[in-house]
Amino acid sequence: MHHFQYQNDQMYCENVPIRRIAKAVGTPFYLYSHATLKRHFKAFDSAFAGVSRLVCYSAKANTNLAILNLFAKLGGGLDIVSAGELYRGLQAGFEPNKIVYSGVGKRVDEIDYALKNGILMFNIESLEELEVINQRAANFNTIAPVAIRVNPDVDPKTHPYISTGLKKNKFGIDIVSALQGYKAAQKLDHIEIKGIDCHIGSQITDVQPFKDTLSSLNTLINELRKIGIYIRYLDMGGGLGITYSDETPPAPDEYAQAIIKSLKDSSFKLILEPGRVIVGNAGILVAKVLYTKRGETKNFVITDTGMNDLMRPALYDAFHAIKPVSKTRDATIVADIVGPICETSDFLARDREIDNVHRGDLLAVMSAGAYSFAMSSNYCSRPRCAEVMVKDNRIHVIRNRQTVEDLCAGESVPDFLDEH
Ligand code: LLP
Repeated sequence: MHHFQYQNDQMYCENVPIRRIAKAVGTPFYLYSHATLKRHFKAFDSAFAGVSRLVCYSAKANTNLAILNLFAKLGGGLDIVSAGELYRGLQAGFEPNKIVYSGVGKRVDEIDYALKNGILMFNIESLEELEVINQRAANFNTIAPVAIRVNPDVDPKTHPYISTGLKKNKFGIDIVSALQGYKAAQKLDHIEIKGIDCHIGSQITDVQPFKDTLSSLNTLINELRKIGIYIRYLDMGGGLGITYSDETPPAPDEYAQAIIKSLKDSSFKLILEPGRVIVGNAGILVAKVLYTKRGETKNFVITDTGMNDLMRPALYDAFHAIKPVSKTRDATIVADIVGPICETSDFLARDREIDNVHRGDLLAVMSAGAYSFAMSSNYCSRPRCAEVMVKDNRIHVIRNRQTVEDLCAGESVPDFLDEH
């Protein structure tokens, strides 16, 4: 049971009618269910019960401080990819020694910030990065804890833009070079080898690619033992998919069992970096219909949200279910549901059958908790929308809607424009 349900044709988030929230905060806005967020985190974590583990929520999926705060309170760690995410994580109360830092392009200032804060480990994505982290640690007279992110060349069978574990992808280090990397790391004075890491992609709906990855990692781990390198942390990355439409991804229990069974050795502490599976179906985007129009070949429903707030349909042709907040029970229509942005790719759905909606009606864009607000922009000078969290019958605005003044913050006009 999830927490966006109809009661008497009105969609509720937990025990609050969504219509009421729209009246209070205006549209568009993202809406998150506290109960769903908590249940998803706990279900994922307890799927690994009995195994030494740390669930490091992947911040990039949704970085709102309230959401991070909730996972910190539930005992989670954090997977970050930038100094900005580290800052947010620390603000939200994560213990630094529960934070892992991935990403192919860590800057020196970001490395320094992470070293100063004593994070759990850096997931190294190139041999040059290893050298730089060693130098920076030497500079601070400290030791940098690292894992090498291995690119296992496994096909996760997902959208090509979100596959990361194939040879042709920029991520991680291939198995052969990873062995060289560990040997190099062993000789560096300011590096402590802590773990091994991977992340093969996102929205993965089958356990096989995870099993294949572990089998590659097991081979490398054995090679490492032979040269006296003992891994303490095995970081499986994230990637477990969710249902947007008719996908049937494995439940966290099935995913956990597949991983646990493929672990040759139980002396590791397992790190998991789930993002989408925790937050994806815990959030929706609520928008208002501004206009409807009938083109020569199509119906258009024009809403006050678009690719600036939710980029996934434009970028990946991603499917998000769209439901009326108040059911009309009219006949349905087939329409393109589009936004106000001046781009043809600005659609939420194309050729979609929906209730025959009218100007002023509210729509709920479902499964919009992950990579949704986080990837929003100010394109066409549209203020970023509000974010709201509901717990039972309580509402809290966890991010104010931006104002037009906010849009100009930080900009300034040089005096030399007055010169002729
Ligand atoms: N760990 C690393 C190193 C990652 O790069 C990612 C996601 C995760 C964990 C979390 O993966 P998840 O459990 O959420 O699948 N914007 C795309 C998804 C990009 C995923 C990037 N990396 C989308 O909207 O589908």
